[in-house]
Amino acid sequence: MIFSHEPFERHSLVLTAGILIVVAIGGLIEIAPLFYLENTIEKVEGMRPYTPLELAGRNIYIREGCYTCHSQMIRPLRDEVERYGHYSLAAESMYDHPFQWGSKRTGPDLARVGGKYSDDWQRRHLIDPREVVPESVMPGYRFLDGTPLRYDDISAQLAANSIVGVPYTDEMIDNAKADLEAQAVEGGEGEEALVGRYPKAMARDYDGRPAEITEMDALVAYLQMLGTLVDFKTYEAEDPANKR
Ligand code: HEC
Repeated sequence: MIFSHEPFERHSLVLTAGILIVVAIGGLIEIAPLFYLENTIEKVEGMRPYTPLELAGRNIYIREGCYTCHSQMIRPLRDEVERYGHYSLAAESMYDHPFQWGSKRTGPDLARVGGKYSDDWQRRHLIDPREVVPESVMPGYRFLDGTPLRYDDISAQLAANSIVGVPYTDEMIDNAKADLEAQAVEGGEGEEALVGRYPKAMARDYDGRPAEITEMDALVAYLQMLGTLVDFKTYEAEDPANKR
């Protein structure tokens, strides 16, 4: 037994190869089952794909690099949960391609910012953060205000997301443009169909310019829905550790 170790102890390359093989086997045993277990991502009631307007807003969020200063992942630590609310569940970002967890917090976490402020606050904050938060170091995004939203390709964007696994139906893809327009006004004709397809979708004029659909409309619609889909008052984790 002692002597069978000799080749490993005498030749560093053999030792390195041996380590690689052992680590690879360990890694496979640990990681491979995650791809097959059904409960890797626990299903959570309330999650639905983004509406076309929210998706367009999310694209602006990515385009402007908001993720370089904001995370969207509340860690299960007491200080985080007290400040931001229930810690983030994997299922809450299951329709995010790419995910927006982020790795830097110059500003606060935004995973549950939806409904925290009024649309008007969000708009004023984006135009000039220091008007509402005097000590803010966030840059202003004044140009979003009044810039018409380009959404001629919104159906294609839903279709692209469906290819990577977001459950957009053909009906959602075909009606994407109509749904986007319906969400940017309050009480419009298409509102019922929109909410039928996307439960909890909120239709209203987000940017204070009822006649236009702007980039501000889309971004504020996105911010206002963040973290609002899962109702944590009724949420019960299936994890037995939480059932005590
Ligand atoms: C240079 C870093 C930086 C960038 C880039 C940035 N922010 Fe911020 N953001 C901050 C800071 C710092 C705060 C906290 C002070 C404040 O409220 O303005 C903040 C606050 C916020 C808040 C209020 C959060 C709360 O809970 O009070 C929202 C919403 C927000 N940012 C959205 C955005 C969006 C949307 C973008 C991209 C268009 C963006 N931010 C880009 C730094 C940044």
